[in-house]
Amino acid sequence: MKHYLLPLLLAVCTLGAHAQETTNVVTVDVSKKAIAKATPIQPTMYGIFFEDINFAADGGLYAELLKNRSFEFTPDHLMGWQAFGRVEVRDDGPFPRNPHYVRLSSMHHRDMWTGLQNEGFFGIGLHKDVDYRFSVWARVPDGGTSRLWIQFVDQNTMDEHQEFANADLTIQGSEWKKYTVTLRSPRTIDHAQLRLFLVDDHRRSGSVTTDLEHVSLFPVDTWQGHENGLRRDVAQALYDLHPGVFRFPGGCIVEGTTLQQRYQWKNSVGPVEDRPINKNRWENTFTYRYYAAYFQSYGLGFYEYFLLAEEIGAEPLPVLSVGLACQFQNDDEAAHAPATKEGLQSFIDDCNDLIEFANGDTTTTWGALRAQMGHPAPFGLKFLAIGNEQWEQPYYDRLAIIAPEVRRLHPEIKLIGTSGPNAEDDKFRHGWDAMRRLGADLVDEHYYRDINWFRNSMDRYDNYDRKGPRVFAGEWACHDRGHKYNHAGASIYEAAFMTNLERNADIVHMATYAPLFAHVDGWQWRPDLIWYDNLHTARTASYYVQQLYMNNRGTHVLPTTLSQPTPNGEDGLFASAVLDKDENHIIVKLINTSDQPRQCQLLFKGQKSADNTPRSATVTTLDLSTYEAENTPGQPEQVSPVTTTLTLTDGTLTLPAKTFKVVVLDR
Ligand code: AHR
Repeated sequence: MKHYLLPLLLAVCTLGAHAQETTNVVTVDVSKKAIAKATPIQPTMYGIFFEDINFAADGGLYAELLKNRSFEFTPDHLMGWQAFGRVEVRDDGPFPRNPHYVRLSSMHHRDMWTGLQNEGFFGIGLHKDVDYRFSVWARVPDGGTSRLWIQFVDQNTMDEHQEFANADLTIQGSEWKKYTVTLRSPRTIDHAQLRLFLVDDHRRSGSVTTDLEHVSLFPVDTWQGHENGLRRDVAQALYDLHPGVFRFPGGCIVEGTTLQQRYQWKNSVGPVEDRPINKNRWENTFTYRYYAAYFQSYGLGFYEYFLLAEEIGAEPLPVLSVGLACQFQNDDEAAHAPATKEGLQSFIDDCNDLIEFANGDTTTTWGALRAQMGHPAPFGLKFLAIGNEQWEQPYYDRLAIIAPEVRRLHPEIKLIGTSGPNAEDDKFRHGWDAMRRLGADLVDEHYYRDINWFRNSMDRYDNYDRKGPRVFAGEWACHDRGHKYNHAGASIYEAAFMTNLERNADIVHMATYAPLFAHVDGWQWRPDLIWYDNLHTARTASYYVQQLYMNNRGTHVLPTTLSQPTPNGEDGLFASAVLDKDENHIIVKLINTSDQPRQCQLLFKGQKSADNTPRSATVTTLDLSTYEAENTPGQPEQVSPVTTTLTLTDGTLTLPAKTFKVVVLDR
C-alpha cells in the first residue's frame, strides 16, 4: 500500500511483549473529490460457484432422498437398491430417455415377499415430525389393482420393529400414472432406508404384477416450496451469503472425462423423469476417494439453477463446453470435437439456445420450454462462460470459432474466457494474451494455493493491465493440507487477500470461492465452503469470510492507506474500505494475520475534524486465532462472527491476533 503522510498527530500503538513501536493509522479518503472519482464495485463482485463435486447436487443441495430413482445406473441398474423376491429390470418404460423400470411379481407363497429397499445417499436423513412425499410412476400391466406397503426403516436398530413410519399406496390400471403419498417421520434419524413391499389389501404378500418407475422421496418442505426442490437448510446457507453472481454447473464436469460424458444442459431441462442421467466425472478422478455410484440425475438442472440464482438474488453465470474433453484427462486430439465450424456447430447451438432458454420470449422454442416449466418471464442472463479451465491452442482455436457465432446473435451477452488451471505460469500468460486477442469480456482465473502463496500474493492485482478484459477469480481457495473441513488458520489469509480484490474492483469484477459444497460421507476435494451430513449443515470459517465481504460489498472503493505500509503486508495488517451509497455507510475491513494484537486508528480524510471525534460503529469480528478451529456438522459454531455496537473514541480500535473485523459507520 502506498504511504500517506498524515496531517494529524496520531497515537503510538503499544503492541505487547514483541511489539514494534508503530502507528497503524488507516486513512480512508472520504473527501468529495475521492468520492466523485471512486471506482464502482460491481454487484457481481463476490459470488458462489456450484459444481457437482463432493455430492453437491444429488445427495446434497438437491433434496431427492433416493438414489438411482430411475433404475438407470450402470453397470447395475439396481445400484442403491436391494431387491427381494421377484424383481425384474425392464427397458421399455414410459420415459424414452430413461427407459428402465422394475417389474415386481408374486412369490406365490404367503410368507415370501417381493419388494425393494433404497439406501439413499449415505443413508436417508429424516427429521422428527416432518412430512416426506413419496412418489412413483406405476401400472398394473395386466390391469386390476395392486398395493404397495411403503416404510421408513432403520435396519440397524435393536428395536423389535425396524419400520417406524408407513403408508399404503393403491396402484390401479394398466396405464402408467404418477402416485403420491405423504409419510411423517416420528423420529430424527440420519441413516434410514426406504422399503416397499408388494402386498394385497391385507398387507399379505401381493400377487398382482406391478411395474414401478421413477421412485422418489422428497421432504415436502423444500427451499421455496418447489416440488422438485432443494434442501432448505443448504439453500438457505446460499441465500444468507447474498451472492452477487452464481456460476454453474462446473468445473471439470462441464468438460467431462470424455466429451460424451460432459454436462449437456439440454439433458437437464424438461420433465424431470425424462432427463437422462449422466455419470459424474468426479467418480473418475481420484481412486483414493472413490464412489462407484456417483451419477448426475439432472433433477437439479439448468432451469433449477436459473431459478435458484433468481431466488438468492445472484446473476446467473452458466459455463458451457468449448468442445474439449477435460484436458487433464485427455492428451489425444481425437478426444475433442474437431476445431472446425461444422465440428463445433452443436456447441455453438448449445450457447445460442441456452441464451434463448434464459431470455427468449415464450414464442421461441427454448423460451416456450422455460415457460412450460413454470417461468414465462425471462431470467435476464447477461454472462456466459465458454470453456472451463482450458489452455493453449486447442482452446483458443475452438473459442475463436464459437465466440463470434454467439456474439453475432447476442452482442448483449458478456463472454467469459479462461486463463487455464494455474495462477502465473506460461499457460496462464498465453491464456491472457489469447483472451485479449479474442476480445473476451472477462477472464476466469483459478488458483487453489497454499498459505505461502497467499502471503506473497497480497498485491496480485495492483499492477494488472487495466485496458484488457476484466478479471473473474472463478475458483480460488487457500489450501492447507491435512485439514478435514476448512479451518481458521487458512481463512485468515483469504480475508486478507480479499482486500486486494476489493481495492482493485476496477479490474476484478467477480470472485467465487471453490468448491462450494461437500458431503461429509462423500467428498473428493477439500477444503469446501459449506459441509453437510444428511441432517445438518456447517458454514465454515471461509464461509463467514465470504459472507462478511458479500454482505458488506458496498458500491464504491474508497482509497485507503496505512501509515506504516509493508510491501506485501509482512506486518500482518491489511485494510480496505468501501462506501455504500445506497445505505450511506462507510465500511472498513481490517485484518490482522499476525500473532500479535495490533492497535489501529481509523482516520477519515476529507471530513471535518469534528467528524473524527467519537462516533458509533457496528463492528463485526471474526476470531480466526485458533489455527485448527473448524466448523463441522456436529459443531457448526466453533468459528462464527460476533457483531457489537461501540463508540470509536478518536477512531482507535484493537485488532487482536488473527482477526477479521468489519467496521460499519454512518457517513
Ligand atoms: O473445483 C474443483 C475443480 O478444480 C474444478 O472442477 C476445476 O475447474 C478445477 O480444476
